[in-house]
Amino acid sequence: MTQTLILLFHPDYRCSRANKALAEAASSQPGTTVVDMQALYPDGRIDGDVEVARLLAAERIVLQFPVQWYSTPPLLKAWQDAVLTRMFYIHYAAEGAKLAGRPILIAATAGNVPEAYTPSGANLFSLRDLLKPLQATAHRCALAWQEPFLVYDVRRADAEALEATAGHYVARLAQLETRQAA
Ligand SMILES: Cc1cc2nc3c(=O)[nH]c(=O)nc-3n(C[C@H](O)[C@H](O)[C@H](O)COP(=O)(O)O)c2cc1C
Repeated sequence: MTQTLILLFHPDYRCSRANKALAEAASSQPGTTVVDMQALYPDGRIDGDVEVARLLAAERIVLQFPVQWYSTPPLLKAWQDAVLTRMFYIHYAAEGAKLAGRPILIAATAGNVPEAYTPSGANLFSLRDLLKPLQATAHRCALAWQEPFLVYDVRRADAEALEATAGHYVARLAQLETRQAA
C-alpha cells in the first residue's frame, strides 16, 4: 500500500520552483509517492479506474498545487468531478465508503504575501477561508481534514528559502504519519 500519496496538480511543472522543491523533497521520503497529474492527464481526461484504485491504495492523501485565482488549478477540479463524483455519488459502498477516515492534507503555494490574505489586504480573505470548498469536500467524503500546509510569497523565495520550506514539508508529512499511527 502506498502510505502517503501526493497528487500534484501543476499546470506548468517544468517552470515550477516551489512545487518542484516540495515534490522532490517529499518523493525522496520512504513510503511517499508523488504523482504528477498534469503529466499523466495533459488533456484533462482522467482515468477513473486508475485514480480510484490509486486513492484506495493510499493511507494518507495530499493534494499539492499552486494557488491560481484564489482557487485550485483546473485539473484538480476535473479530478474531483471525475474521481470523487464516481466514488461518492455513484459507487459509494464499493469505493467511497472505503476511504472513510483517511487523512487529507492540502499543500498549496501562493505568490502573494500573508498580509494580502487579510480583510484589509488585496485578497480580502485568508487562504484557509478560500480553501473551504476543499474542506467541505473532505467533510462530505468523511476524510480527516488536516490543517493545510501553506507557503506564501514563493516567487521571491531564493533556493535556500525553498530548501528550508521543503524541509518543513517533509517534517509535516512525517507528523501526519505519526499522528495517524498513534
Ligand atoms: C494563472 C495564475 C493565477 C494565480 N493566482 C494567484 C492567486 O490567486 N493568489 C496567489 O497568491 N498567487 C497566485 N498565483 C501565483 C502562483 O500561486 C505562484 O506563482 C505559484 O504558487 C508558484 O509555485 P511554482 O514555483 O511551483 O510554480 C497565480 C499564478 C498564475 C499563473
